[in-house]
Amino acid sequence: MQVMETKILNLLKENSDSFLSGEEISRQLYVSRTAVWKHIQHLKDAGYEIIAQPHLGYRLQAVPDKMLPDEIGYNLNTKIFAKKIISFSSTTSTNDVAYKLAEQGQDEGALVVAEEQSRGRGRMERKWLSPPGVGIYASLILRPKITPIEAGKITLMGAVSIAKIIRKLYGITALIKWPNDVFIENEKICGILTEMNAEQDLIKFVILGMGVNVNNDAAQIPPGATSLKIQTGRQINRIEFFQNVLEELEAHYVKIIHREFDFIIDEWRNLSLTLGRRVKIKRESKNIEGQAMDIDENGALIIRDDFGFSHHILSGDVQIER
Ligand code: BTN
Repeated sequence: MQVMETKILNLLKENSDSFLSGEEISRQLYVSRTAVWKHIQHLKDAGYEIIAQPHLGYRLQAVPDKMLPDEIGYNLNTKIFAKKIISFSSTTSTNDVAYKLAEQGQDEGALVVAEEQSRGRGRMERKWLSPPGVGIYASLILRPKITPIEAGKITLMGAVSIAKIIRKLYGITALIKWPNDVFIENEKICGILTEMNAEQDLIKFVILGMGVNVNNDAAQIPPGATSLKIQTGRQINRIEFFQNVLEELEAHYVKIIHREFDFIIDEWRNLSLTLGRRVKIKRESKNIEGQAMDIDENGALIIRDDFGFSHHILSGDVQIER
C-alpha cells in the first residue's frame, strides 16, 4: 500500500466514530480532494469498508480480515520487530522468502507474512497445512549476536510467547511440547520452524517461522491438531492476536540478546507439557525411552532412561507415553 493510503487510513481510524470530510483529509495531508477520492477507492479495493456520505465525508466502517501490513503495524508497540512487513496473499513458504531476503541483507526484525502457503514446511521435512485466510503464517528475520549453540533459545521463545498470549487473551491452558509445539488439550495449535545461517561461531541470521491455526474449522486442520476458533467457539481477530505475539516475542528477544537466558528456560519449564512425563524419542539410530527430567541451558531435553543414564537430546520427535 502507498504511503498516502496508509496516512489516509490512519486518519480514518483515528476518527472512526465520525465522518471526516474529503476537504479535511486533503488539508491535513496536503493532497488534492481528487487524490483523496482515488486513494479511498484503492482502500476499498483492498477490502476496507468505507462509507462516503455527501456533505459529511468518509467513515471507516470495517477493516478486512486479512494480515495486511497496515493492520499489523497499526499501534504496534515494538521497536525492532515488524518495522518492515512484506506480505503476500499467497506464497510458497514465508520461511523460504524470509531466508532469501535475509541473504540479500534485509534488516533484522523484518517480517514476512502470507494469507496462504503452497509449500508450508514443518520440522523434520513435514508439510505445514496452510489454508487461505484462517491461519497465521509468519517469519521474522533475526540477527542475534549470540553463538549458534545459544540460538536454541530463539525457538524456545517462540513457543513460550505464543503459549503465553493464548493464555492471556483467551484464558486457555496452552502448553509446550518439547521442543516447540504449542498444544491445547493434547492437540497441536502452533508449530515453530527456526532456520539458521551461521559460520562457525557467528550467526548470520535466524529465521523464526511461526504457524498458528487460528480460525481453521475442523476440516482445515490435520488429525491431532486444533485451532483457536475450535477452542474458543468464536472467530478470532488474527491481527489482535498476532500484535500481542509480536510484542511478547520482542520482549523475550531483548532478554536473549542481553544474554538473560535463564529467564526463557524458566518460562519454558513452567509451560511444559513434556517434563515429568514418560517419553519415547524416535531417532534414526536408536529410540530412547525414559523420564523427561528437564531441559538444559541449550534447550536440549534431558531424559533418564530405565538404566539410570541421562541423555541430552538436541532434536527429535517426542512421543508422550500415557
Ligand atoms: C512444525 O511444527 O513442524 C513447524 C511448523 C512451522 C510452520 C510455519 S508457517 C510459517 C513458516 N513458513 C513455513 O514454511 N513454515 C513456518
